[in-house]
Amino acid sequence: MREPLRVGIAGLGTVGASVARLMARNADGLAMRAGRPMALTAVCARDRGRDRGVDLSRAAWHADPLALARDPNVDCVVELIGGEEGPARALVEAALGAGKHVVTANKALLARHGMALARLAEERGVALAFEASAAGGVPVVKALREALSGNRVARVSGILNGTCNYILTRMEAEGLSFAECLADAQRLGYAEADPTFDVEGFDTAHKLAILTSLAFGVALDPDAIYVEGISKITPLDLRMAAELGYRIKLLGVAERTPTGIEQRVHPTMVPRTSSLAQVMGVTNAVTIDADAVGELSLIGPGAGGDATASAVIADICDVAADVVRPTFGIPADRLAAPERAPMQRHEGGYYIRLSVFDRPGSAAGIATRMAQADISLESIIQHRARTADADPSGRSGAPVPVVLITYATTEAAIREALARIDADGHVAEPPQVIRIERE
Ligand code: HSE
Repeated sequence: MREPLRVGIAGLGTVGASVARLMARNADGLAMRAGRPMALTAVCARDRGRDRGVDLSRAAWHADPLALARDPNVDCVVELIGGEEGPARALVEAALGAGKHVVTANKALLARHGMALARLAEERGVALAFEASAAGGVPVVKALREALSGNRVARVSGILNGTCNYILTRMEAEGLSFAECLADAQRLGYAEADPTFDVEGFDTAHKLAILTSLAFGVALDPDAIYVEGISKITPLDLRMAAELGYRIKLLGVAERTPTGIEQRVHPTMVPRTSSLAQVMGVTNAVTIDADAVGELSLIGPGAGGDATASAVIADICDVAADVVRPTFGIPADRLAAPERAPMQRHEGGYYIRLSVFDRPGSAAGIATRMAQADISLESIIQHRARTADADPSGRSGAPVPVVLITYATTEAAIREALARIDADGHVAEPPQVIRIERE
């Protein structure tokens, strides 16, 4: 058998420690698959004393990630530090610049600097592999880059953030607060170091930028993504969704439209009977619509140490087997510039929850503004106030929730109607707007 691939891991947190453990536990099987053994020769982590459940005594310890990139006993650098700048970026640039293969789970780094890093990797003839960067343990990168080469992809969509799906699932099922669910997601190792990236939709956007490039053969364009997170979703929205036959999921969607590629991340009402509505907890789901294969869905754990490590190890195995492909499937300089479809032209149904002053003319005024924007309403829901709060005259003017469901319309029409409703003084708070996917 050939000499071992010498692996250096930078970052021994939840995922890094799992990678080290799985490499040790599956050493023989991995060597047979790759045609050569893999040896963990170096690590870089802050806390040397922590027990990570694996013997690291034969690996060199580096305090500085750049020292790991320069270590002559490392052929393949595994970057699990995270973050789009700082040590992670410096490490990956140094490693590729030194002609070393890089395996990373760092979606933020790839979304922002993926094009430059891909060019560098391709110039040096080394691998820049990133299966773990999107949808955790779900092998969607390989699916798009390799298994679906014979297809023209029309749409990639799905649940790409385990933390958000976990939070929404538990809030709905157990009536827990957003804060309690987020704390549990952090404790379980699902959330990013800064969980704002999860709950405000940025993590989903980073992953979507990567999948869009792979699916459509275009350069990464993270600034083109419309992004909204889940932090403003309330228990009332979750109850209304259930009443209306929907469930709320944070979706990332990239699709070809007549005006270009639309990329968007936002909470979405999906029918309760749909397959996406059944995806619970930290699970991710990606659906790809392509001309030859039709519709393909991949579902599995989207976060967590061992699940993410599974994807990292698949990449290390490829490197050991000398698999070096263009980073995003097509050489970086041949990726097309993406045409951006503006969000204002997005078409679909909408859930709009307004806090309406309960007085004569409010509902009529709102309905008029909707009609003026050419929006057709499918339903309007205003529940009677609880008996204790009820105003028998209906003239108290106290704000009450009113939910409107629209037929398909455009984002521009919704924004125009809501601006007028606000200017008319009918509502007490900014509206809650949630897009609906009916298929
Ligand atoms: N914080 C991410 C998530 C980890 O919750 O999905 C996996 O990328």
